[in-house]
Amino acid sequence: MHIAILPGDGIGPEVTREAVRVLDALNLGVTMTTGDVGGAAYKAHGHPLPPATLALAEGADAILFGAVGDPDCDALDRHLRPEQAILGLRKALTLFANLRPAKVFAGMEGHSALRPEVAGAIDMVIVRELNGDVYFGEKGFRTNAAGEREGYDVMSYSTSEVRRIAHIAFRAAQTRSHRVCSVDKANVLETSQLWRDVVIDVAREYPDVALEHMYVDNAAMQLVRKPGHFDVVLTGNLFGDILSDQASMCVGSIGLLASASLGERQTAHGTFGLYEPIHGSAPDIAGQGLANPMATILSAAMLLRHSLGLNQAADRIEAAVAGALAGGVLSRDLGGTAGTAEIGDAVVARL
Ligand code: NAD
Ligand code: IPM
Ligand code: MN
Repeated sequence: MHIAILPGDGIGPEVTREAVRVLDALNLGVTMTTGDVGGAAYKAHGHPLPPATLALAEGADAILFGAVGDPDCDALDRHLRPEQAILGLRKALTLFANLRPAKVFAGMEGHSALRPEVAGAIDMVIVRELNGDVYFGEKGFRTNAAGEREGYDVMSYSTSEVRRIAHIAFRAAQTRSHRVCSVDKANVLETSQLWRDVVIDVAREYPDVALEHMYVDNAAMQLVRKPGHFDVVLTGNLFGDILSDQASMCVGSIGLLASASLGERQTAHGTFGLYEPIHGSAPDIAGQGLANPMATILSAAMLLRHSLGLNQAADRIEAAVAGALAGGVLSRDLGGTAGTAEIGDAVVARL
């Protein structure tokens, strides 16, 4: 079994290092190969997703990804910016299903941005479509009739794109509490009307799952009013991006939320996928040893479960993270003082 390790930029290498230490400590006999990605790859090879990195990712059973994004690169042409690496991997590898679980760890209710009694009920998974939407439509700059410069990005979803992600959400709901909340903006957007029509159609195949629809503005409000309401949240690329960062603060910190990006390709023991924390490269704290590596460590656990079929090892990692949190090993984002490596040590010690 082979894992491609793509640390990336900013805190990416710092948090990935701790996740690799955790994997090493489990002695799983997996091979890990590191590749350049993002701004680091642009600086070394002139492209954020060099062919060698794409080949490494394609040839692996799974990819552990840190984060990309570098302020030095913000003025580059868009196709050369670090963020294109992660967008390119998701698209090239047809990783269309992004699972972002958000659950409050026992005893951590007081660290939520919400009241503890509200936060304690959080146990949801955001199923975010990852290959379409306004992210991948035609975009550009043009001059309008008044001679003014304007930017545009086309939002669209095809029936098959919505259908395949809807199936993922309904199947996920069957392993949970049999509820799907589909989030859209069908009161304004045709893209969302199509989304809603297709989700209703797919729902007919899952009579055991209750479906509700919610407009995204209301969903953003309900997520902080009564987050325990949500179980499986099915949504598009842009809304899922935004709602998942919001969900992270309901749990307590963006440094706690892991993700899996899956497609249809199967490996020997599971589904091929890319695993990454939901946060970015955090340039404001990069290089200071302050970043919370738990989201990346938890992403490694998802990798073991979904791509390598190593469920017990995944459970052990999750229990070790929960144990470290319960033991008061908290980074600055959670109001504590533990550094990145110290948190890695604490998790490894509990394995
Ligand atoms: P960010 O997620 O990097 O940071 C937002 C805030 O959260 C910052 O204050 C940061 O310090 C904090 N934070 C993030 N991760 C943390 C962690 N593990 N521990 C403690 N604190 C943490 O988002 P941003 O600042 O909007 O973006 C920075 C760069 O990252 C941009 O270039 C952006 O495009 C990129 N980005 C990349 C990814 C990805 O690689 N998948 C995801 C999001 C943003
Ligand atoms: C994420 C990030 C990415 C996204 C960016 C870096 C392209 O914000 O993974 O949540 O918008 O999908
Ligand atoms: Mn995001």
